[in-house]
Amino acid sequence: MDSWEWNKIAGAVLGTLIFVMVIRIASESIFEVEPPAKPGYVVEGVEETASTTSAAPVEEAMPDWGTVLASADVAKGHDISHKCEQCHDLSKGGPNKIGPNLWGVVAAPRGEGRNGFDFSSAMKAKGGTWTYDELFKFLKSPQGYIQGTKMSFAGLRSASDRINLIAYLRTNADSPAPIPPPNPKAAAPAPSQSGTPAAPGGPSATPPAGSSTKPATPPAATPQGGPPKKS
Ligand code: HEC
Repeated sequence: MDSWEWNKIAGAVLGTLIFVMVIRIASESIFEVEPPAKPGYVVEGVEETASTTSAAPVEEAMPDWGTVLASADVAKGHDISHKCEQCHDLSKGGPNKIGPNLWGVVAAPRGEGRNGFDFSSAMKAKGGTWTYDELFKFLKSPQGYIQGTKMSFAGLRSASDRINLIAYLRTNADSPAPIPPPNPKAAAPAPSQSGTPAAPGGPSATPPAGSSTKPATPPAATPQGGPPKKS
């Protein structure tokens, strides 16, 4: 007899547990709907990172050498140049190693001379001279910029590292290459060319607009006050 009652109690307990479990499963299935939204953000972030990464390889703006070389940290550039010494001797009259001696390389012809260094055909084919821009692009990704170069160096991602290094390489010469005059890009030419006339014209044009705007504001306030009264 007692066993019957125990069975009833056990049954009630089990039934309750089953209900609880069903409710849990049901509620979990509801919550499960939300998590996909969070992963969604993660995926978006990844995509953004990917797009940023892919954007980086795209044309990097060239520094204004007249400005950046004047403020470059040549001592830091010297430190960075130690990364090159594994393959390059940078001293005057130094030997060629895995790579050519780099004394006076800034503004020098590309892939030529260097005491008969055996340049790759890719380097020779590129031609031209090692301008600041060319060094800046090459040192970011040697093999990305000159495909087939023998220089197996990953490159320096940091633009400021490259600027400091190039500033040091510039001084590493009998007569350092000239620094071009500062040229604050497209915006500068107009003001500098028309100089005095252009400057007054621009500012003077702007103040009238501003002053007219200021007077306009108080009147505007009145009209605005009107509508509310109507409504
Ligand atoms: C792993 C060895 C290695 C490292 C490290 C290396 N280079 Fe080179 N570099 C070379 C080789 C090899 C060449 C010749 C490339 C060719 O002929 O294609 C070269 C060529 C060059 C040239 C072209 C020289 C000319 O006269 O045309 C420049 C400039 C240069 N390296 C700069 C650097 C700088 C700056 C660093 C340090 C940030 C550096 N390299 C690090 C191996 C190296």
